[in-house]
Amino acid sequence: MDIYVDTANLAEIKQAHELGLADGVTTNPTLIAKENGDFKDILKGICREVSGPVHAEVLSLEYEKMVTEGRELAKIADNIVIKIPMNHDGLKAVRSLKAEGIRTNITLIFSAGQAILAAKAGTTYLCPFLGRLDDISANGLELLDTIQTILINNPDLDAKIIAASIRTPIHVVELAAMGIDILTIPSKVLEQLEHHPLTDIGIEQFTKDAEKFK
Ligand code: G3P
Repeated sequence: MDIYVDTANLAEIKQAHELGLADGVTTNPTLIAKENGDFKDILKGICREVSGPVHAEVLSLEYEKMVTEGRELAKIADNIVIKIPMNHDGLKAVRSLKAEGIRTNITLIFSAGQAILAAKAGTTYLCPFLGRLDDISANGLELLDTIQTILINNPDLDAKIIAASIRTPIHVVELAAMGIDILTIPSKVLEQLEHHPLTDIGIEQFTKDAEKFK
């Protein structure tokens, strides 16, 4: 299982990297807009920090512009993967970029049907959004399970799943139990995973009792 950090913030990426929790990084326009600086410079900085895949999203929605932008972003570093939004032109763009040897990630997947089209288009990764489905009272984990089953039962579809829009530690645990290839996790959730109230109580007790030997 690979864990990516879902952020464009260099300090958060460094912190995760120190714990072996940055096998890769996913960004999107919203995450990059939270940082200061030029779009490409921010991505360059991330690529210097992390040797695994760094996912950079195109800003256009039309086929030709997506392909041109994808080519440009791919020049930033060898570990850049081009994120393409799930739409008709995006599927076409993925096929063209794949033919040029550029790795892609089809993002904003909310149904198993979209995942099938993305995998057939030849995307390297496909990115279903879990939390946003939960937000509208749908079941994000159920979708992940269905997509996972489709890929296992159809080995010719060789796309990897990146579970995105992860909001809670329970999401992480359930996805890991399902054997999802890659989980991209915001640093807030990575931090939440570290903690348990019984650990805090235990540490407090041991620290108090250790005083006897100091
Ligand atoms: O990688 C996609 C992810 O950032 C979306 O998360 O919490 O905005 O739904 P969220």
